[in-house]
Amino acid sequence: MLHLVLPRVYPLTCTMNSQPPGGEPRHLSVLPAEVMAALDPQPGQVFVDATVGAGGHSRLLAERLGPTGRLIGMDRDATMLALAASRLEGLPVTLLQGNFDELPDALARLGVTAVDGVLADLGVCSDQLDAAERGFSFGQSAPLDMRLDADDGETAAQLLRRLSERELADLIWTYGEERFSRRIARRIVETRRASPLETTDQLAELVRRCVPRPPRKGAWKKAPIDPATRTFQALRIAVNDELGALERLLVALPECLRPGGRAALISFHSLEDRRVKQAFRDRTRWQELTRKPVQAGEEEVARNPRARSAKLRAAIRPDPRANETTQDGHVGWRRSRPRT
Ligand SMILES: C[S@@+](CC[C@H](N)C(=O)[O-])C[C@H]1O[C@@H](n2cnc3c(N)ncnc32)[C@H](O)[C@@H]1O
Repeated sequence: MLHLVLPRVYPLTCTMNSQPPGGEPRHLSVLPAEVMAALDPQPGQVFVDATVGAGGHSRLLAERLGPTGRLIGMDRDATMLALAASRLEGLPVTLLQGNFDELPDALARLGVTAVDGVLADLGVCSDQLDAAERGFSFGQSAPLDMRLDADDGETAAQLLRRLSERELADLIWTYGEERFSRRIARRIVETRRASPLETTDQLAELVRRCVPRPPRKGAWKKAPIDPATRTFQALRIAVNDELGALERLLVALPECLRPGGRAALISFHSLEDRRVKQAFRDRTRWQELTRKPVQAGEEEVARNPRARSAKLRAAIRPDPRANETTQDGHVGWRRSRPRT
């Protein structure tokens, strides 16, 4: 499953004057105030936004760092960097295309030994989901691609052709938590014997045929999600080795931060959150700022439904010379009321 992402980090030449490909970004940054409170960026400091996306968090950070500070922004997706560049015009920002698991290498290339803070807002942006040709969603028929870096690695269609029935079932179960993973894998293998699965609508329809419908309309308390959602999530995670990249980032992070530096990670499903939680519990490397994840309040969720599943965790790289926490181990910033 793991595919090697060769270091391909380079400063983008779109020095903030290129036209964004799709006009204004659509993505709304989640938990913006909470991220700023957790990271507490100060004028003149150096920060990394490891997942620039549409540039919303990057802009907030860079504004706080001011003209004497510097924000280093990374993303695997060159299209997102070009989109964000227009938002970051005039701010002290260096944009790099690369996987955030290459962060130590990226910093070394820029001559930076350690930074004051790192943000990673995991997953994909609304702009990527809305771009049908990327193959992340199934509203329209599009090639099953799903790569964050359009020049790197196997597409979802290639993965669906290569994996055995057993491997497909495991992937859909592990990354999608899909109860009907075996049935879906069997159907994929039967279908590809006749002709390979190439498009998002082909796959979505195949999955829908494998998952039983709810017994009657309105029987589910919550609005049911499309049955294909979990399989699409599983494939996206596998195509981009998202959990592997997160684990490698978590290992490398403490060395990228100066003592007293802060890290904030936003995850969108339990597979990610569990890894972040476990890493931050290691007291030899981290001082937790959030024993429980910070979640969006009702107002934010009403404005931005995607924020519903966002979980923010933050931690400090311990500084032997200072103790920045209060007695109960928390810094004094407001925690949003947890959603019920
Ligand atoms: C949720 S969006 C970030 C949104 C951003 N915080 C904002 O305010 O607009 C996640 C971004 O992370 C990028 N990404 C995901 N995994 C990555 C990785 N391993 N390395 C670098 N970028 C990654 C995606 O391409 C996407 O643009």
